[in-house]
Amino acid sequence: MAEELSTKNCPAIEKAVWHLYRDFFDKAERKRRWRVTDDLPWDECNPNLDPAIADVVESFTAIEMYLPDFISKILPVVRPSKGRVWFYANWGYEESKHSLALSDWLLKSGHRSEEQMKDMEQMVFEREWNLPHDSHLGMLLYAMTQELATFLNYRNLRDRVAAMGGDPCLEKLLLYVSVDEKAHHAFFSDCAKMFLEHDRDGTIVQLRRVLNGFQMPAIHDLLDNSTSRIEKIRDLRIFSEEIFYTEVYLPVLEELGVTRAELKGKPDMKLKKSTTPS
Ligand SMILES: [Fe+2]
Ligand SMILES: [Fe+2]
Repeated sequence: MAEELSTKNCPAIEKAVWHLYRDFFDKAERKRRWRVTDDLPWDECNPNLDPAIADVVESFTAIEMYLPDFISKILPVVRPSKGRVWFYANWGYEESKHSLALSDWLLKSGHRSEEQMKDMEQMVFEREWNLPHDSHLGMLLYAMTQELATFLNYRNLRDRVAAMGGDPCLEKLLLYVSVDEKAHHAFFSDCAKMFLEHDRDGTIVQLRRVLNGFQMPAIHDLLDNSTSRIEKIRDLRIFSEEIFYTEVYLPVLEELGVTRAELKGKPDMKLKKSTTPS
């Protein structure tokens, strides 16, 4: 089997990835930085928001809190690439901010107590997240897909909040977070284009694996098993297989200039079981 193309055996890719990272970082510094304590209207939280919304926020917070696993497991994989390592250092800072802001909202809005937050944290730290793909390229394409799906999760949640009585603080928070997620997606997508340019066949093999077997985290994974609570969350229609197909799968192919024929067949997305980086 041919060696997988990497930044180690292809200096042109490493150079390009480093430029992408510098561009990503400089843009983030200029346009995207926000502060949890100072930039959100914490006195405008809505304690009367539908509890199903708070349940979803809690689930997303839990997923963001898998940060120790996300970081510690991906860094050895991307270690040979300065561009990707530096990206993940910045990415980790942004993702840590997401979990801080979401946790603060759960507390300050009164939807969760300190004790409930502690229990949730403990539940998260007792579980371990593992990389869903064994190659660096598979992980790059997986992260690209996951970041777009995560952007949609936050954008759709924000729309539901606005339609269900509103919460100026949560809506602003979800806007900041979703803009970050979109930027993460764009970085991975630009890297993916580079790999396609240098090794189209090898990249498509990995893309097929990632897209056709994609798993989204179940948003109720870490919640209790109350059936009515789970159904209420489902009713919010924040993410579904249909949304994945029309707003992730097809746009990703278009962005990368890959045809559906090259991927062969419809994706087989599963909505349960894994937790994934954001
Ligand atoms: Fe992200
Ligand atoms: Fe995030």
